[in-house]
Amino acid sequence: MILCPKIDVPKQLEFDWVAPDKSLSHRSLIFAFLTQGVSEIENLLDSQDVRSTLEIAQLLGAKIEQRGERLLISPPHKLPAQAYLQCNNSGTTMRLFAGLLSGSRGSFTFDGDMSLRRRPMQRIRDPLEQMGALLSSSNAPFVLEGSETLRGICFHSSIASAQIKSAFILAALQANCESRYSEEELSRDHSERFLSHLGAQIIQHDKEILISPLSHPLPSYHFKIPNDPSSVIYLIVACLISHQMEIRISEVLLNPTRIQAFEILKQMGAYLSYEITLDGVEPIGVVYARSSELQAIEISSSISWLIDEIPALCIALACAKGVSYIYNAQELRFKESDRIASIVSNLLALGIEAEELEDGIKIHGGEFCDGVVQSFGDHRIAMSFALAGVRNQVEIVGSECIDISFPRFFDFLKFFVSYKGWK
Ligand code: S3P
Repeated sequence: MILCPKIDVPKQLEFDWVAPDKSLSHRSLIFAFLTQGVSEIENLLDSQDVRSTLEIAQLLGAKIEQRGERLLISPPHKLPAQAYLQCNNSGTTMRLFAGLLSGSRGSFTFDGDMSLRRRPMQRIRDPLEQMGALLSSSNAPFVLEGSETLRGICFHSSIASAQIKSAFILAALQANCESRYSEEELSRDHSERFLSHLGAQIIQHDKEILISPLSHPLPSYHFKIPNDPSSVIYLIVACLISHQMEIRISEVLLNPTRIQAFEILKQMGAYLSYEITLDGVEPIGVVYARSSELQAIEISSSISWLIDEIPALCIALACAKGVSYIYNAQELRFKESDRIASIVSNLLALGIEAEELEDGIKIHGGEFCDGVVQSFGDHRIAMSFALAGVRNQVEIVGSECIDISFPRFFDFLKFFVSYKGWK
């Protein structure tokens, strides 16, 4: 797709629907397997990653019925003894289902696309095998042999990852005694919030979480999915780097472990504010932003709270005054692409001076020039570099991967740029 600046744009934008949260969409489907009865999910994200989870849920015997905006899901009475689970591009699907199925007697083959096959699975293999499951390899495709007699264990993860933690929790809920989990830095806490809200004994104790096995199935639930801060960030950055724009987005998930990028933008001088309007299982609220002059910054802490937003933040850093640094972000190398390499390569292609660091990126703020960038098959790289089209003409090769998390992205971006056609 080729994007170039538009002259006549509305100056104030207001949205109450952008894209439902991807992490919560996956969890609201997978956690139904621990319940009894029919659960109701409102506003499930309809994207390729979530469809992968939905298809696997059905293949494993869950009953799914779509009723308008609501999706009804009932868990299977019995899981199959064997299944081939195609997770496509979705790491969350693979890691969370691996945790869930570790507690079932059966043989489950997990597979993914080329990107997911490259991503590390040893990080879930270690704890799940210590509990009694068996994984045939540290990369997909692998066969998981589940066990109905999982052991409760203590595990420390040197990587702050909600996918490892959630896989662990799902297995630990099916173990024979209490388990303990700790991580280097708290990762997103949706699983703990959601499951303990349903009555699971998951208790945060200092830096550890204590997980008691379920003594009976959890109750069914009704859950409405708010807008995804990891998608909303693209509209915010587009607004900040535009000329005299304002944007207000409501119904946004404002969980503190997900909005560190908003805090960074504020520290960079962005006119950006947010307010919680509903505090239930998850805090939800309104975000407001206005075009701003941005200053360079050094980012080195709470990285797991902004890991998915770093590609979009890099566009803001490229437009900021001064030299910015991102450190301690080596996890970027294990995402849908090696995001450190993808970001630097695309910034250079658009005339921005940038350098790969082993665990991060150095960016000299400047002016984008027109150019061609690659998506590297990575949805967040494609969307982030589409933002450069707010200021210049950009051609994105391989933008179809945007469907993985934010299918209507270009409908929103068109308020900031005009289209010149598909590539
Ligand atoms: C996710 C956790 C994060 C994030 C991913 C979604 C989740 O990955 O990058 O997009 O839903 O649990 P890690 O937990 O591997 O850091």
